[in-house]
Formats: sequence, structure tokens, C-alpha cells
Amino acid sequence: MRHAHIAGVAHAVPDRIVTNRDLEKLMDTSHEWIVARTGIEERHWVEEGEGTSDLACRASREALNRAGVAPEDIDLVVVGSLTSDYFFPGVGNQLQDLLGLRTVPSFDIKAACSAFIYALSIGDQFIRTGQADTALIVGAEVQSTALNLSTEGRDMSVLFGDGAGAVVLRATEEDRGILSTHLHSQGKYLKELWCEAPASRFHPRLSVDMLEAGRQYPKMNGREVFRHAVNRFPEVIEEALQANDLTLDDVQLVIPHQANLRISQMVAKKLGLGMDRVFSNIHKYGNTTGASIPIALSEALAEGKIADGDLIILAAFGSGFTWASAAIRW
Ligand code: UT7
Repeated sequence: MRHAHIAGVAHAVPDRIVTNRDLEKLMDTSHEWIVARTGIEERHWVEEGEGTSDLACRASREALNRAGVAPEDIDLVVVGSLTSDYFFPGVGNQLQDLLGLRTVPSFDIKAACSAFIYALSIGDQFIRTGQADTALIVGAEVQSTALNLSTEGRDMSVLFGDGAGAVVLRATEEDRGILSTHLHSQGKYLKELWCEAPASRFHPRLSVDMLEAGRQYPKMNGREVFRHAVNRFPEVIEEALQANDLTLDDVQLVIPHQANLRISQMVAKKLGLGMDRVFSNIHKYGNTTGASIPIALSEALAEGKIADGDLIILAAFGSGFTWASAAIRW
């Protein structure tokens, strides 16, 4: 049956590295606290003026190059991102222009940490139905410019990093590629991890009062998010396996959204999976939201952790709440 396979993968991060020690100079935190609670040692943050579209463009060009696909062959662009350069339009529209694509459909998906899997699923559906032969699917974020870098914001600001990852999907009838995707959401928990402003509920969308109250900063009830994450990850991974009559023994690598090393370890333990089969690069990048899975996929390939014929599972959980998985035969 016609479906999508991944023909090329690449990632890009800003040059600037911000270590935990650098953050100690800005707020009351410590390298030891951050490593013990999250596994994060450093992250990449943009320089003034660098936007999500710049990172997305770099990752996309390299993914196209690796796939051997010319820009004119792209039929669809879907970007998973919470952090478009501007309030509107989205990064997808910018990429259409920056990459010199035909006037193909291009749009953003705002599904937070699950956005890349949501975007991948959309690309796969377009290809399955014959609407597209080749799709560019991107996860890209600049979170650093949203953070409160004082001690008041330390619970959030030590976690997040900037970056982008891109994959090129192509139609195939072969026995490999995206086997299935599984998407979920539960909006009643939206205020457990959210950013209130700028907001169309208010006129103006962002006022001096709101800025003074810090309503432009993302907020999280970390413990509550953690509690849901460690249940939803194993659940949605099992769902992907069951849908394909597979078991964990068939899986070579699980690539979870990089939210917290402790979450990945707890998920691995619940599933009875060794950490050698759970990819982690959070120590280098922190949590890059919608970009973390394609960055991790790109690095796992570069490190030789994925071979032809391997079964890999992508899984994510985040704001919304949203959660998702994808089963892929490489
Ligand atoms: O990607 C989207 C999904 N996101 C997630 O899945 C994140 C889920 N949550 C988490 O990963 C964890 O809850 C955190 C890493 C965010 C926090 O870890 P925690 O073990 O849940 O810590 P906590 O929030 O319970 O805070 C413990 C203490 C508090 O002090 P008191 O009240 O015990 O005196 C905090 O004020 O640590 C304090 N604290 C910090 N200390 C130093 C909070 N942030 C910091 C900090 N540096 N950056």
C-alpha cells in the first residue's frame, strides 16, 4: 500500500552554547540541580535577530540534500512549531519562499512537543491519499526568547533550547517507511503548561500591565506534567506496537521527545526497556519542544544507531496536553 518513507533527515542548532554554569550567573540555580533533575548540561540559544525560520531553513536544505530531492519536487510543507518568527503567518510560509519552492501548501501545526509527530502524520496522510508525492516535514523552535531569565523563571528557563530538524518524505509501495501514527489530545489540562500572551482574547493582545505581570512567559506545573508524561509515553508506544502486531522485542530504538532524562528513564523502566534502546541527547540541547524528535532522529542516524530494516518508535508528550507516537520501518 502507498505510504511515506523518510528519504533524508538533518538538523540545525544555533552556534551559541549556553551551559548550566552560564545560567548560574543569571539566576539562583546550579549545574548540579539542573543535571540531577533533568539531565541537561547545555543548550543552544539564538543570537539576537536569529529566528525559527533561519534554523528551519538550514535543517531543510540539508535534509533535501541528503534525500537527493530538488526544491521543485516538494509538494507540501508542514512545520511543527509553537514559535513562529512572527505572530502570523507561520514558518511554513517562510520556508516556501526561503527554499524557492513552487506555490505548494505550507502551514504550521501548533501541537507543542508532539507537533513533529502530528506534522509527520499529516505528511503521511497526504502521501497515502495521493495528494503529495514528496513532503518536507519540519520541527523548529526558538524558545529562548520567551524565557524569564531571572530566578522567578528558573523552573522553566533552565529547560529549553532552540533548534530545528527536518525530514523529507517520499511515496513508496515498499515494505518500509511510516507504518502508523497515533495522535491524542486532552485540552482540560491546557493551563498545566501554557503561555497566555499575546492573546486574541485581549485587546490589546499584549499590554504593559500584562508584561509587568509576566503573562508573556510560558508557565508549567512541572510535577503534574511529569506525572501525566510517564503514563502517556508508555501507553502511546504500546498503542503503536499493537496497531502493527509488534512487540517491544521487535524495536531497535525508541526516540522520545527530549523533555527530561528522568522521564525517559522512568518510561524505559515501565516498559522494561534498556536505556541502550532509548535515544537521549537532552544533555546537549535541553528541551527543544517541536524540534527535539527530528534533531534526535538526525543524531541517531549520524551515530549509526539506525540500520536499514530497523523498527523505530517516535513518541512525544507535551502542552495541550497532546501526545503521539509513530512506528517506522527504516
Ligand atoms: O516538554 C513538555 C513536557 N515537559 C515535561 O515533561 C516536564 C515535566 N516536568 C519536569 O521535568 C520536572 O517537574 C522539572 C524538571 C520541571 C522540575 O523538577 P521537579 O523535581 O519536579 O522539581 P520541583 O518543580 O518540584 O521543584 C523542586 C525544588 C523547588 O524548591 P522547594 O519548593 O522544594 O524549596 C523549586 O523551587 O527545586 C526548586 N527549583 C530550582 N532550583 C534550582 C525549581 N527550579 C529550579 C532551578 N534551580 N532551575
